[in-house]
Amino acid sequence: MKGVVLAGGLGTRLGSLTKITNKHLLPVYDRPMVFFPIQKLVEAGVGEVIVVTGGNSAGDFLRLLENGRGFGLRRIHYTYQEGSGGIAAALALAEDFVEGERVMVLLGDNLFEESLAPFAERFATQARGARVLLKEVPDPERFGVATVSEGRVMRIVEKPEKPESRFAVTGCYLYDERVFDIVRTLEPSARGELEITDVNNAYLKAGELEYDLLSGWWQDAGSSFEAYARAQSLVREQCRGAGA
Ligand code: DAU
Repeated sequence: MKGVVLAGGLGTRLGSLTKITNKHLLPVYDRPMVFFPIQKLVEAGVGEVIVVTGGNSAGDFLRLLENGRGFGLRRIHYTYQEGSGGIAAALALAEDFVEGERVMVLLGDNLFEESLAPFAERFATQARGARVLLKEVPDPERFGVATVSEGRVMRIVEKPEKPESRFAVTGCYLYDERVFDIVRTLEPSARGELEITDVNNAYLKAGELEYDLLSGWWQDAGSSFEAYARAQSLVREQCRGAGA
């Protein structure tokens, strides 16, 4: 399985912090933000990763991550997204790298406490389709929200005004090789983006979307100053707990 880290987009919600640099290069306690998704992919057994970047300072990713060996990767590739056409548009840029394999996609600003290895292993036993990771949150309206019934996802709505549940769809997506065909069928949403929620709903419609629930904390570090600050303290606590 190949890995994709999506670190494109313009990161405008962090104001002047991203005026001269890319959001995913900002520090989160002891590391640049983009280290987290790369480390999670390696921990889950992924050896080859592509980083989709964009906006400011794209060249700095190469200087920072080099050839990926420092993370234990066999291979790291880079590509550049112009503008911010959406998460699914960024994913489409990884198609040639993925070469018909399955993919584990991580959003570049998503931090996970627990290892994602068990979910990757479960996906490996899944005959086809996609798998998403859900987390119960107090503010679901900020995310894609999944309605779950009898062990199945019934629907996912992107940032609903009145969420039907508290299950946020986190930024870790496991897809089979058909994901790029699905992206080609998408139309831009009201906010002018190709939405990852539409990809997940396409799998859902085909009856091929599975899910797992996360038990550890999950933090989206880039959507607001508050989220960024919370990410710092969660990582700080984790490092202190580990004696760092
Ligand atoms: O954090 C999880 C949430 O991420 C999900 O619950 C939502 O369903 C999903 O749409 C997404 O919501 P956001 O609106 O918060 O995503 P955001 O625009 O902040 O983008 C998240 C990451 O995706 C960002 O760190 C970089 C990457 N990205 C985003 C866009 C719009 C790209 O690489 N290219 C893009 O064009």
